[in-house]
Amino acid sequence: MNLDELAVAALVRDDRAHLLHPQYYAPEHEAPVIFASGEGVWLTDVRGHRYIDALSSLWNVAVGHGRGELAEAAAAQMRMLAFANGYNGFSNVPAIELAAKVAALAYGNMAGVFFTNSGSESNEGAYKVARFYWNLQGRPQKVKLIARERSYHGGTLATTAMTGLPVFWQHFGPLLSEIVHTRRPENLECACAPNADGECAHWIEAAIEREGAESVAAVICEPVKGAGGVWTPSDTYFSQVREICDRYEVLLIADEVITGFGRTGRWFALERWSVQPDILTIAKAITSGYVPMGAFIVSTPIMDVLQQLPPDARFMHAYTNSAHPTAAAVGLRNLRILEEERLVERAQAMGDRLGAGLRAALGGHPHVANIRQLGLIAGLSLVADAERGTTYDPAQFVGREVARHLREKGGVITRFVGDQIVLAPPLVVSEAEVDTIVGALAAAVGAVTSGTGAHAH
Ligand SMILES: Cc1ncc(COP(=O)(O)O)c(C=O)c1O
Repeated sequence: MNLDELAVAALVRDDRAHLLHPQYYAPEHEAPVIFASGEGVWLTDVRGHRYIDALSSLWNVAVGHGRGELAEAAAAQMRMLAFANGYNGFSNVPAIELAAKVAALAYGNMAGVFFTNSGSESNEGAYKVARFYWNLQGRPQKVKLIARERSYHGGTLATTAMTGLPVFWQHFGPLLSEIVHTRRPENLECACAPNADGECAHWIEAAIEREGAESVAAVICEPVKGAGGVWTPSDTYFSQVREICDRYEVLLIADEVITGFGRTGRWFALERWSVQPDILTIAKAITSGYVPMGAFIVSTPIMDVLQQLPPDARFMHAYTNSAHPTAAAVGLRNLRILEEERLVERAQAMGDRLGAGLRAALGGHPHVANIRQLGLIAGLSLVADAERGTTYDPAQFVGREVARHLREKGGVITRFVGDQIVLAPPLVVSEAEVDTIVGALAAAVGAVTSGTGAHAH
């Protein structure tokens, strides 16, 4: 597609008049980039401009754009059986096969898969199933959920409350009071190696103590906090969190909506530290974004409770499109691509190249700090003075300007979170494309930050 300016102007006019976008702020849509097609890590807009998609669109297009195999899987399934409901004694073939496949790929203790249509629905369902489990265990007072600062868990009312980024709460309150966040305990003295954003497992322990373990159903954690700016954990963090949850009888929910299916160089991120959650939530890369799908997956003890309910109890949780046959068929084909092309191993190798490239190009830069990377997900902080540890005045919008320069001059698209720049290219990215991303980002950082230090605060 290569539209003339009149046709583009008509699209822009209708977009502005009628399309309400996620995280809507109208001025951002005055001159939108309107995408038309994609191939591998490349996106092309309606004017024919090409960009490297350095965030897999929204961390989801793991196998890259333009995969005919996935289009064919969807078309074949739609011809065979477009839809049939999975309620009250009904099922369908691809959903059964995908549930078995996901259960086999996930942590060894995982048993039951409930399919959703998004990460938000997965986390909402995980919280409901945690409450349901404790209720059935005769402990109905265990209703609270502990979430962490800088986490992102979704856009429904409950997952908005879980999200630890206050900008997502504004003008939506009051939020659910049973969902609380960790904060730095007063007078904390510990020998823990901190996570990249400074927290440690004692923050979770302190939150459970503060709320009272008898009232807490679960803790929810992203293994790597993604949308909050890509913050990686220390190597001991999740084994400590697991031990704390066990000690206080609190379920551990791993939100692997971003990290699931290879992003961190493992099928699921906590494998790296030999930790298993009680509930795992996924979405995004299960279908590489070609069609919407997500799931929450429960461990054997929770599955046992769900399968042996007393006659008067039923898990009354449902979505019309749960286990949609087309989404399941695409998911199965997508997982085959990940396996056949060994993309999980590739994520580790290309991620290490990305991390090494970022450290070499920007490690000593006066306006860059805290470069972090785990597999093929990376982030860095733009700062007023790396040596003195001072941050930029948010009103300078340095992150936004770097991302804009990167797109307009470097032809690379990614996101910024305040002054954090985040990267997560498709797992099919080549060595040369990784190097292009690093080079373009270094150029953008250099161009935007030269002369910005004077405004530090
Ligand atoms: C870690 C995490 N959890 C949950 C969600 C919500 O997923 P969705 O936007 O599919 O509802 C996201 C979305 O980016 C996410 O990054």
